[in-house]
Amino acid sequence: MKSIAVIIVAAGRGQRAGGGLPKQYRVLAGMPVLRRTIDILRRALPNALMRVVIHPDDQSLYASAVEGLSVPPAVFGGDTRQASVFNGLKSLSAEAPDIVLVHDAARPFIDRGLIQRLLDALHSGAEAVIPALAVTDTLKTVEQGIIVNTVDRSGLYSVQTPQAFVFKTLLAAHCQVEGQQLTDDGAVIEAAGVEIAIREGDERNFKLTHLADFGKAETQIMMQTADIRVGSGYDVHRFTSGDSLCLCGIEVPFSKSLKGHSDADVALHAITDAILAAVAAGDIGTHFPPSEEKWAGVSSHVFLEHAADIVREKSGLIAHITVCIICEAPKIGPHVQKMRHKIADILKINIDRISVQATTTERLGFTGREEGIAAHATATVRLPMGAYNE
Ligand code: CTP
Ligand code: MG
Repeated sequence: MKSIAVIIVAAGRGQRAGGGLPKQYRVLAGMPVLRRTIDILRRALPNALMRVVIHPDDQSLYASAVEGLSVPPAVFGGDTRQASVFNGLKSLSAEAPDIVLVHDAARPFIDRGLIQRLLDALHSGAEAVIPALAVTDTLKTVEQGIIVNTVDRSGLYSVQTPQAFVFKTLLAAHCQVEGQQLTDDGAVIEAAGVEIAIREGDERNFKLTHLADFGKAETQIMMQTADIRVGSGYDVHRFTSGDSLCLCGIEVPFSKSLKGHSDADVALHAITDAILAAVAAGDIGTHFPPSEEKWAGVSSHVFLEHAADIVREKSGLIAHITVCIICEAPKIGPHVQKMRHKIADILKINIDRISVQATTTERLGFTGREEGIAAHATATVRLPMGAYNE
């Protein structure tokens, strides 16, 4: 078995995407671009060493983008992509893997099949292999806004990343051409005079370059997660003596409290169950049995985070949450915005995807008699289309 390393270059400034927050840290369908890229590569190559090359100014952006993922400390990049890759390669010299894949953080749609084609090529003796797509559009040379020539497109390809190399070959080539401004590692290898093989690229694996590419990427994610599931959850907790209760993760002052094994946040429990139902992953009791002492007094956002993690594990996303809190008192209305913010924060989704409502039961039933609070929630979850994403 050959050892593999992956270098993700993420030290650019994203000028063409409009400057400001570098494009690799912008949120795409609820997740920073870089996190999506890292996540896909980690799953595709679980045993590979990983190096993420970042700009020294982006350390806190990076820390929040990879929160909860096990990634080694970042490596600092340079002024050019070439310098950033070189730093990534040098950071691997102690481990000296057999194979290295170099990938742009700004390409969050890597296909496993593509990675396999590259690795197969290296295993059959190539020293360098890059994904390429034959150019299909007619090409023109333009001078001062006027077409001067039609270019023969036969033999022309556009290339993508990941690009895969024998580690020693790429490191030696980078040492040779240090200080130039070559825009991909294929060009570095060419300059060193080593032969490069190509394998079929993937149209979906495009690079986020301009602002409009973000819209295209959102659409692509929606198309890839078109298996739409709806789940519902219901929970009840009875009142007990106290002076506040926990609802949707916030403390609401009241003349009573809610009784329960955890913090008795009836609304977060209903939402957790709705998400688990949407992905057919059991219910809150399956994951956090009340019989287990360790869940006593636990803050319910832990349960909700766990349900959201299950969705992410499946490469899905939470499209929408509604929760209806059923009680005569306390009044929920004044707290609704804060509750929506809190849920959005826990689930790491946009607040416009969260609705919190409340109703009384016209003094009927146990909620009407003010014996407790009930909550009903619905979750809409998008999952990848089965075979397409395997
Ligand atoms: N990159 C890098 N170090 C640099 C320049 C680029 O690590 N000095 C990375 C980018 O973060 C990106 C990849 O190389 O993931 C491809 O580069 P590009 O699309 O050009 O990104 P930016 O340089 O950030 O964008 P722009 O050229 O529009 O400023
Ligand atoms: Mg650039």
